[in-house]
Amino acid sequence: MPHIDVPLKRGRFGETSRPDNWWIQPLVVFLGFSAFICYSTWAALQGNNYASGPLLSPFYSPLLYGPEPYAWFGGGPPSWFPSFLPFSSAFLILWIPGGFRFTCYYYRGAYYKAFWQDPPNCAVGEPRKKYWGERTFPLIIQNVHRYFMYLAVAFIFLLGHDAWEATKFENGRGVSVGTLVLTLNTVLLGCYTFGCHSFRHLVGGMKDILSASPVRKKAYDCVGCLNTRHMRFAWFSLFCVGFSDLYVRMCAMGIWTDYRIF
Ligand code: FES
Repeated sequence: MPHIDVPLKRGRFGETSRPDNWWIQPLVVFLGFSAFICYSTWAALQGNNYASGPLLSPFYSPLLYGPEPYAWFGGGPPSWFPSFLPFSSAFLILWIPGGFRFTCYYYRGAYYKAFWQDPPNCAVGEPRKKYWGERTFPLIIQNVHRYFMYLAVAFIFLLGHDAWEATKFENGRGVSVGTLVLTLNTVLLGCYTFGCHSFRHLVGGMKDILSASPVRKKAYDCVGCLNTRHMRFAWFSLFCVGFSDLYVRMCAMGIWTDYRIF
């Protein structure tokens, strides 16, 4: 069988034959992630202004310890929490969506390029001589993504419940701008979570003959449809969850008014 020898040469860091602006995408990812990490860390550290009327910030939901009627277990901090640490209920739950995103297949590819330059982009020289891979420690830990997925799915239902609670006003059910913001946030996070590669494997990917299970096949196709747009939903949902916290925070601080639509 004829074959062609393609000499593989490791280029210097940043060296490439690509004629396009390959650096724009990792730069945008770096700026977008950095902005979100800074804002979400700041918001989680505040420990206040996370609820306003029927609205509860998704950064603090489910609220385990805090004021009535939002909290599950009453006021905090709990007795087991170290007294020398500043308490914020957000830190009790944010490790779940944070861990889910950090280990996401799409995000891994994106931040390996943007933050670690490993490589800076496809077919661009990287700063390391050795390939780390994900089959050994420490990156093998990324496989925990499949377990985070179960918790992340539960969060979608909790956030859906929050969106429903956001229709409860003192004089009955209604819809405000905040209701729409929290609902949109749940929908986008749902599209991101249910398009997860691990979820696709769960609903049908592990079957050898998928067509023999029509229900699984349908579910697999639906998840596959979301999966093809996974990057888009990853970014839309990231932006929306940050904006949802900002919206609730601004309302709680009295800077914005949550206008009731009906
Ligand atoms: S692969 Fe992105 S959320 Fe699972």
